[in-house]
Order: sequence, then structure tokens, then C-alpha cells
Amino acid sequence: MKIIKNIGELIGIVPEGVRRKEGDAMSEVVSIKDAFLSFDNGLIQDFGPAGQCPDTSSGDEIIDAKGGMVFPMFCDPHTHICYAGSREQEFIDKINGLSYAEIAARGGGILNSSDLLHKTSEDELYGQTMGRVNEMIAKGTGAIEIKSGYGLTTEDEIKMLKVIKRVKETSPAIIRATFLGAHAVGRAFTGRQREYVDLVCEEMIPAVAEEGLADFVDVFCDEGFFTPEETSRILEAGIRHGLIPKIHANELACSGGVQVGVAHDALSVDHLERTTQNEIEALKGKSTMPTMLPGSSFFLGLPYGNAKGFISSGLGIALASDYNPGSSPSGDMRFVMALACIKMRLSPEQAFNACTLNAAYAMGISDIAGSITKGKRANLVITKPLSSLGFIPYCYQSAFIEKVII
Ligand code: NIG
Ligand code: FE
Repeated sequence: MKIIKNIGELIGIVPEGVRRKEGDAMSEVVSIKDAFLSFDNGLIQDFGPAGQCPDTSSGDEIIDAKGGMVFPMFCDPHTHICYAGSREQEFIDKINGLSYAEIAARGGGILNSSDLLHKTSEDELYGQTMGRVNEMIAKGTGAIEIKSGYGLTTEDEIKMLKVIKRVKETSPAIIRATFLGAHAVGRAFTGRQREYVDLVCEEMIPAVAEEGLADFVDVFCDEGFFTPEETSRILEAGIRHGLIPKIHANELACSGGVQVGVAHDALSVDHLERTTQNEIEALKGKSTMPTMLPGSSFFLGLPYGNAKGFISSGLGIALASDYNPGSSPSGDMRFVMALACIKMRLSPEQAFNACTLNAAYAMGISDIAGSITKGKRANLVITKPLSSLGFIPYCYQSAFIEKVII
């Protein structure tokens, strides 16, 4: 057994069985000051006030938190970190006035990453992806959803998902894989979107499922990409092959994607930079987690999602980094938390719940991660002594992470 002693504040305690927080509950973060936590075989065994800490003389390994905070590692339920190279040329194009949508319409954007990925070996892609995973772990993220979607041919989508599988097998982080063949229409199908959707449904999804390479199926349902009708078809093909829907929706326009996602019991509907009361109503009482990505609003200069409106309507929200080369080249969840507080006006407690328990829910792992709960993974961040939870989004760039246990 391992025991963490001298914890200044143990943050993010959630009772067993609670899988997500909604509405007012998003403002609650339970903590214990002067605490201990024990774990065994990587699972949280016990925790409580320091006075109840078991006798530490019996050969257990002791970790001294030296008065720092301990909280569950962040979960990141939406990333595209399996990509080759970078796209800073487009960064410059954006500085000079082109929008994300204009770059995509000229055949750049996702298709540029797809060309580069095609030329990159599996080993090289694995190395680059693992580099990003390790960078994220060091910044406090312990669980990562990773999407395909830069292959855009059956062969290259499988190549990406094999790399993600290898990352899952070799990284200490909890990894979940999403098939996103409908991220853009592959170059060979320019002008033949219907045939590309046929390929996704009839060839890619069966091939991915046959090899057991994905947990989820996702579609970029937005203006200039895939329509709600095409999205329905793709999600239904995924469901038939055992994949759970997630969705990109309402980034560029009110696309109808939220409603399509909810109709197919999507685990999450993501982006939501542009939402109206219709989307909020569609999500009420449903199992789908709205997931917002303020890093892409920041990077692309888009509006920020109406997180407060969702929460005051009784819904929960999750936050994710969207780490990718085109709209959010950062996987730092401390920055995501800071943007949620500064730009979306969430309280630090709401942002914390959105980056931990609700983020775990949005990647289907809130039974094993995302909170301090007996039996869950002891994936933990130990910080320097901090004055309060609010310090994390307030001073998000300071080097306050002392150690991660994963
Ligand atoms: O979530 N919006 C679609 N996909 C990504 C961007 C991918 C890219 O530009 O490479 C996103 O923002
Ligand atoms: Fe995305």
C-alpha cells in the first residue's frame, strides 16, 4: 500500500455511484483539509482527515505531499493528438485574415494534415502522439480520448487507430479511441461527398469494428462539412457495429448536430460555440453530455459556448482541450479551466467539475476516474501548497504541479 500524507487539501471527493454533476451540483466541490489518502494496485483505498491516517511505520511507501493540494487528474474527452507535423503556415494565414472555414474550403486545414499523415510512418506517428500524451500527463491530464480523422481513406484511418491502440497499450494514461472518418471528405472524393459517406458507412466502419479499434464514432456535423442526414446515417452504421456516438456540432453554425446526437443517444455533443435555447431544450433530461472546447474559441477567435446558460438550465457540461493542429494546438487543461472561468464566467468549482468528473463521463469512464472515490484509479495531481482551488485557473501558467501519480 502507498500512503500520501501531509495533504493540505484533498479536493474532488465524490460519493460512489455518482457519474456526473448537473445544474447547481456543478458548483459543489467536496474537500478535506489536512488529509491523507492511501492506494493499492493503482486504486484509491481510503482517505480522510490526517488524524485517521493509518500507522505509517509498517513498510508502506509514504509520499509526503508537504502541505500541497491533491486532486484527481484531469480527463480530456476530446482530442485529435494523433497527427503528423504541424500547421503553423495556416496560423499565419489566419493572422493575415483567413478564417478556419475559408482555409478548409480552399482544400487546406484537415486535408493538409491528412496529406502529411499519409507520408508519415506508423512508428513516427506513434512517437509524435506519445510525445503529446507525455506532455499532457506532465500538465495533470490522466485520461485522454483520441480521435482518428486525418486518414480519410480506409487504410490511413486504420493506421491512425492502430497507433492509438499502441498508445493505449504503452501509456499509463487511460486512453479511449474514436473513429472520425467523417472529419472531412478525403481528397480522392472531392465533389463526391455522398460516395465518401458510403465509404465511411460500408467500408471504414465495418473494418474498424472488425479489428476492435474504436470505442466511439464521431462526425463533424457542421456547415461546409457533413449534414445532419449524413451524420444520422454514419452514427447508425456505427451503432450497428457496436460504436457509441459522439459528435462535433455547432462550431461554425447551428448545424442541427446537437439534435442528431441526442436522437442517437450520443455520449457527448461537442463544441457548441453557437447554441440557442433549442439545443439546451434538446439536451434536458438526456444522457448526452454537452462538451465545450474553449481552447478552439480562443485560437480561432470564435464565440465561447454558453456554458452558464446550460448550467442554469439544470444541465451539466464537460470541458476538453480539442488538442489538434488546426484549431487548438494545446492540451493544457489548466488553460482550459482558466478560459472557462475568464471567458465563460464559470466559477473555479464549476470548471473543475467540468474538467474532472463530467469530462470522465464524456469519455465513458466516470466509473473509474474523475474524482476522489474509493475504488477509482489513484491518478492524482500533487501541487505545491496553494491558497485555494481558485488559484489553479487564476495562475494557470505557474509551475504549481509538484508531482503526478498515474
Ligand atoms: O475539433 N472541428 C473539427 N475538427 C477539429 C479541428 C481539426 C483540424 O483543424 O485539424 C476541431 O476543432
Ligand atoms: Fe475536435
